[in-house]
Amino acid sequence: MLNVPDVRVHESFLEAMAEFRAEGRGDPVDDTMIGAEMREFSSSWSTPEGFAAFVAALRAQAAGEHLPAGFVPCTTLRWAKDHEYLGRIAIRHGLTPRLLEVGGHVGYDVRPTARRRGHATAMLRAALPAMRNLGISTALITCDVTNTASRKGHRVLRRRARRPTRRKAPLLVADREFGAGGVVGRGRRQNCGGH
Ligand SMILES: CC(C)(COP(=O)(O)OP(=O)(O)OC[C@H]1O[C@@H](n2cnc3c(N)ncnc32)[C@H](O)[C@@H]1OP(=O)(O)O)[C@@H](O)C(=O)NCCC(=O)NCCS
Repeated sequence: MLNVPDVRVHESFLEAMAEFRAEGRGDPVDDTMIGAEMREFSSSWSTPEGFAAFVAALRAQAAGEHLPAGFVPCTTLRWAKDHEYLGRIAIRHGLTPRLLEVGGHVGYDVRPTARRRGHATAMLRAALPAMRNLGISTALITCDVTNTASRKGHRVLRRRARRPTRRKAPLLVADREFGAGGVVGRGRRQNCGGH
């Protein structure tokens, strides 16, 4: 289920972060959102107080509070079953010139031990109403052309998003894949969606 962050999945969250750490997240060169969160909060999030502060920071980001210059509000939602942390999706409320290039509206991750079970697909589907509620009528989703799993997930999202609902316009999803020199196209690009 998709939930706003709260302190209930603390233990499972820490286990999941250890899995991400083992695949290189949090390294100095990791410019993903999880990498940034690890650098800022991992020294304190093992304690209940530190974890509560991290959760509060995520909620503040969604409310647009204390944002660094040039950052837009961003809603993080957790994907969890009972008290097991499985992944998360970050929905940026708007786009900046940088997010237009790399990042787009959405970043998402599934913990390594829960992959290949359909969680990303289900999480993306479940996030569509939240995107609509944030006023995102066209979601820009960027992706590294080598990221097969992510590209497949995007196709699912696109299919699902095009299905019209009775009262709301369908959400349109645009993949952007960047070629050398920043030209938009089906070429190579340097970075994945700020997940
Ligand atoms: C990308 C990611 C979120 C996929 O999560 P997941 O829960 O394993 O994905 P799903 O199980 O929903 O699979 C989605 C599709 O990708 C396929 N897939 C998943 N992992 C794959 C892999 N490593 N190689 C090839 N295909 C893969 C699945 O078979 C499925 O396709 P199908 O519907 O045709 O069967 C996960 O691998 C991850 O967190 N990666 C690191 C962060 C990242 O890349 N985030 C995306 C940012 S753009």
